[in-house]
Amino acid sequence: MEGYQIPAHIGFIMDGNGRWAKKRGMPRNFGHTKGAEVFKKTINWCRELGVSCATFYAFSTENWKRPADEIEGIMNLLRRYIKDIRAAAKEDIRIIILGDIAPLAEDIRLELVDIMESTRSNTGFIVGIALNYGGRDEITRAARILARKAADGEIDAEQICEDSIERLLYTSEMPKLDMIIRPSGEQRLSNFLIWQAAYAEFVFMDVLWPDFDKNALVSAITAYSQRNRRFGGI
Ligand code: FPP
Repeated sequence: MEGYQIPAHIGFIMDGNGRWAKKRGMPRNFGHTKGAEVFKKTINWCRELGVSCATFYAFSTENWKRPADEIEGIMNLLRRYIKDIRAAAKEDIRIIILGDIAPLAEDIRLELVDIMESTRSNTGFIVGIALNYGGRDEITRAARILARKAADGEIDAEQICEDSIERLLYTSEMPKLDMIIRPSGEQRLSNFLIWQAAYAEFVFMDVLWPDFDKNALVSAITAYSQRNRRFGGI
């Protein structure tokens, strides 16, 4: 995309899997399976277009309210994709998991910790996967850490600044979030990267996530490139 501004970091809300499956008379997990394939392809499209980091909302702190079989389906998809995620290390991709993975099944948790550690020095591309992630939870966690440090006398509460919080977010080693893409027609953040989104551009699209393709990504980046980002200036 010569001549276009390319966002360094894009957040993807992978929404619409359930509706996509329903339209085909299939169970919701069929949509998640297709959605996971699109997740994998989107990483390659982002790389081809010169984006350096992409974060995907795979499971929110609120998604535990879903039926057990749907949760199990998403976790099994994750198990299946862990192999692919591992292979990503060979392509110089760093994986960062955002969220509290403590409640996940032990086999998944151990694999994820290992993948994060073994890809830590990769610099070609960063993939963020938000799992049991909530933006409010992320900020609360940072507040708790700072409060504890202040109580222990390690820091002075008056010195706490925006940077002190930023450094404790899951995104601290990622480029600044430039854009959030939400397909499926919904126009809200749903607790995704709420701190990081302060100056991000939002692109809402009518396509359902399993139908998201490279053309959709190109049109979102085109829209981004045409926006005039002033960051509060004039
Ligand atoms: C939202 O669509 C989607 C989810 C809650 C799950 C997304 C998860 C995946 C695509 C699988 C992740 C796997 C890997 C390997 C990262 P929805 O179910 O809310 O759709 P609806 O609004 O149409 O019901």
